[in-house]
Amino acid sequence: MNNKILVSIVMGSQSDWTILRSTEQILNDFNIPNEKKIISAHRTPERLYDFAKTIMNKEIEVVIAGAGGAAHLPGMIAALTTIPVIGVPIETKALKGLDSLLSIVQMPAGIPVPTVAIGKPGAINSALTAISILSNKYPKINKKLQTFRKKQTSSIKNKPIND
Ligand code: RP5
Repeated sequence: MNNKILVSIVMGSQSDWTILRSTEQILNDFNIPNEKKIISAHRTPERLYDFAKTIMNKEIEVVIAGAGGAAHLPGMIAALTTIPVIGVPIETKALKGLDSLLSIVQMPAGIPVPTVAIGKPGAINSALTAISILSNKYPKINKKLQTFRKKQTSSIKNKPIND
């Protein structure tokens, strides 16, 4: 892997970072080199275009894009690239993230945005999805993923303990 950046975490606002830091945490736990950027589809459209057009020339293999509300960031990046873009719907005050979820997941046929759950569970799963994609190519990552799953399974008790 030579420490090249494999995953780009992109968010629509600084305010999304409280959720997407969980994505970074999982990637770091797996030693996956990553970068993070704030790119707003509606407030910095040229930044979005520059990012999406140049990412194809870099060695980044997966993009994780989180946004809230009328969340067109993941779909716009996906439209401008052919590398996988995983969408993370950020929870919102007005509609609890249902708006973000539907905006991201309901891509018309032709430009897919595989979409995870709203908020922190989705942020964690976005990293695990990226890791799963990378594990097809990198045996070391695959081994770590197998170990992670085994640990997770063995952490679940057979019976509840009294509190
Ligand atoms: C979206 O608007 C961002 O992804 C964020 O979730 C939401 C609110 O942004 P701020 O008003 O907090 O900057 O573009």
